[in-house]
Amino acid sequence: MSKPRIVLAYSGGLDTSVAIEWLKEHKNVEVVACAVDVGQGIDDLDEIRQRGLDCGAVESVVVDARQEFAEQFIAPALKANAMYMNKYPLVSALSRPLIVKHLVRVARETDAAGVAHGCTGKGNDQVRFEVGTMCLAPDLENLAPIREWGLTRDAAIDWAIERGIPIPIKSKQSPYSIDENAWGRTAECGILEDPWAQPPEDVFERTVSVADAPDEPDELILTFEQGLPVAVDGQRMPLAELVAHLDERAGRHGVGRIDMIEDRLVGIKSRELYECPGAITLITAHRDLEDLCLEQELAEHKRSEEGRYAQLIYNGLWWGPLKSALDAFMDAANSYVSGEVRVQLFKGHATVVGRRSDVALYSYEMATYDEDDQFDQTLAEGFVKLWGLPLKTWAARAANQGKGL
Ligand code: ARG
Repeated sequence: MSKPRIVLAYSGGLDTSVAIEWLKEHKNVEVVACAVDVGQGIDDLDEIRQRGLDCGAVESVVVDARQEFAEQFIAPALKANAMYMNKYPLVSALSRPLIVKHLVRVARETDAAGVAHGCTGKGNDQVRFEVGTMCLAPDLENLAPIREWGLTRDAAIDWAIERGIPIPIKSKQSPYSIDENAWGRTAECGILEDPWAQPPEDVFERTVSVADAPDEPDELILTFEQGLPVAVDGQRMPLAELVAHLDERAGRHGVGRIDMIEDRLVGIKSRELYECPGAITLITAHRDLEDLCLEQELAEHKRSEEGRYAQLIYNGLWWGPLKSALDAFMDAANSYVSGEVRVQLFKGHATVVGRRSDVALYSYEMATYDEDDQFDQTLAEGFVKLWGLPLKTWAARAANQGKGL
């Protein structure tokens, strides 16, 4: 009888490369490697596919999911201005549910008994992988070879060398743990674990430092339709392309560097470095257009739901019912978020310098102090009296009781 199969989320890096052999030796399974391209900058899909086979997989698949990532993962996150702790645009947290979706699909196609990931037990990604699988395919087993094995990086390298596993050469050198995709790049470990230490320049890849940013600003016009960007400077492009374009353009001006102390789901506080030039530019512009187009009660409520929405995604609950219910709310809220935003990229900042919309709730006639003014100021007198009535009544009682303010 043939051995059971496990589909491993394969990145081509050290951990998942050694995980293939470890699963075979310790779990007596066959391993199908599954790499998912979410815009992390894989140059050669064939090369990574071959690497999976060279590391001992019986089958190796590479999925180009860049468009799907943009349209089904980045798009809803942008509509919700999703930022964990109001700072982190959820780069890794967004890609995991998509990777799980493909792991499960490949597991079905190859008649596998389970799926596996290369996460340690200290992070959020293990939760996102496993809870995702529990939602999409509760019958599949979840394996976590790196967590179970508990080897240090150096020991893993030695173990791989002993067995002749072709590990990526970079892994002996890079002092950081990196994850990246179209929505940004993350860096942890090494010197970054000292929260007092200023991050060295070699941490960064997608952004220049403010010191090296050009002295001339770059100005761009973003067109949004129903909450999503559809064109840059009048040129329409698919979302995946638009995000990549902005990421590059804003990165040149040092936009989108984030240095933060983050509360992980597993209870650890960690120091994280992110580079999200495109994401920060888009969220900044989108929020501004919302301010122009959303009715104020809706705007207020939306802001209060955004943090919750980001937290759900961060905590691995992407496929759960609250997430999809909130998506319906975010879609409804975005139905009039259409128009143009002018953004200036300069010295580390993406600054909105103008906005306009055919469906704006901004009214010049209401706002102006000039002769075009249509606002009936006589109404204000009664309004203010009624608005202040509860406090007036309360203050009168306080005074009666000898408790003046
Ligand atoms: N702390 C971030 C998060 O939980 C980034 C995680 C990066 N993942 C990684 N395996 N290096 O979303």
